[in-house]
Amino acid sequence: MEIIIVESLEEAGEVEAKRLARIINENPETVLGLATGSSPLPLYQAMERYVSGGLNMRNVSGFALDEYIGIAASDERSYTATIEREVTGPLGLNPELVHVPEGDAADPQQAADRYEAAIKSAGGVDVQILGIGSDGHLGFNEPGSSLASRTRIKTLSQLTREDNARFFSTLDEVPRHCITQGLGTIMDARQLLLFAQGATKAEAIAAALEGPVSSRCPASVIQLHPSVTVYVDNSAAAGLELADFYKYIHRNKPDQSS
Ligand code: GLP
Repeated sequence: MEIIIVESLEEAGEVEAKRLARIINENPETVLGLATGSSPLPLYQAMERYVSGGLNMRNVSGFALDEYIGIAASDERSYTATIEREVTGPLGLNPELVHVPEGDAADPQQAADRYEAAIKSAGGVDVQILGIGSDGHLGFNEPGSSLASRTRIKTLSQLTREDNARFFSTLDEVPRHCITQGLGTIMDARQLLLFAQGATKAEAIAAALEGPVSSRCPASVIQLHPSVTVYVDNSAAAGLELADFYKYIHRNKPDQSS
């Protein structure tokens, strides 16, 4: 894992937008795994500047991590609407190539199975963008999720519902269930890119990056992935025992340009 401690996620967004722009220029049909939440926003905003500068993302496919069950896709609080508002529209993606699990399907488990199949038929995810929940969830894979899980229905933890209540008028309105890519699904992506900011993520980040690999902290599964980059700001890095070492590694990164 490459763990990079940054002053702000804006800094991380700039670096990664540049890298993603290069990847997309080389392969215009790149498949991106898309996360909602505040953490990836600086990346999306930085990419928007590349798009304004001529980067064509029309043939890029996107697969969102998750969706609530119980609210319509057309509801502005759905992740379908969020991805459209924050990613598809601003980055000029072709809406037909952007997928979000169908949380309002008559049979959500069938919808989850279709989603798995769609990811496979697109050739798999090249770069999976991730945030982390304050309870260590990835997507909506709450503590206790199988590390080998595939896209399926999950029950949201009380902490996650409280964290997400800011998008709803009352806590009671926050859905209790969702469809989420499984941890096994996420781990199939060729590269993982995780962003975390703020003190509320410090405990989850420490457990995910330095704790045991365990379903107690679902994000810890990324320790088993061969290509992971994690950007954390100083507050989210506060619980990392090896923070100074990660900074040292970053300062002394071998030059691979020659
Ligand atoms: C939600 C999403 C996750 C996201 C998490 C953190 O629960 N399902 O995919 O990573 O929130 O969000 P934020 O980046 O806003 O802290």
